[in-house]
Amino acid sequence: MSQSSSPGYYRHHIFFCLNHRDGGQVCCAQHGAEQAFEHCKARVKALGLAGPGGVRVNRAGCLDRCAGGPVAVVYPEGVWYTYVDQADIDEIVTSHLQGGVVVQRLLLAPDVGR
Ligand code: FES
Repeated sequence: MSQSSSPGYYRHHIFFCLNHRDGGQVCCAQHGAEQAFEHCKARVKALGLAGPGGVRVNRAGCLDRCAGGPVAVVYPEGVWYTYVDQADIDEIVTSHLQGGVVVQRLLLAPDVGR
């Protein structure tokens, strides 16, 4: 049996970069990342998706893709998102984390780095 066919502890694990840099330097925190993270956590919980076999929402430090910030990444797929507001987060939660369908319009361009 291949490793990829075995279920993970979480069905989806989403990490939000919440990194803050002083002096107005580019960082996800300056684009509302903390509020988006809290909103995502609340939505996942409200929909009953949180926990083992479901969804885990975690804070992360810099993911080194700052130029596209704010960013979040969903595993095990390794799908990277950028978002603007809470409506974007709602769409990621219901479409991807709940329904398993990637939100194409919010994908981070593959060449975005630091
Ligand atoms: S500050 Fe968010 S990816 Fe670097």
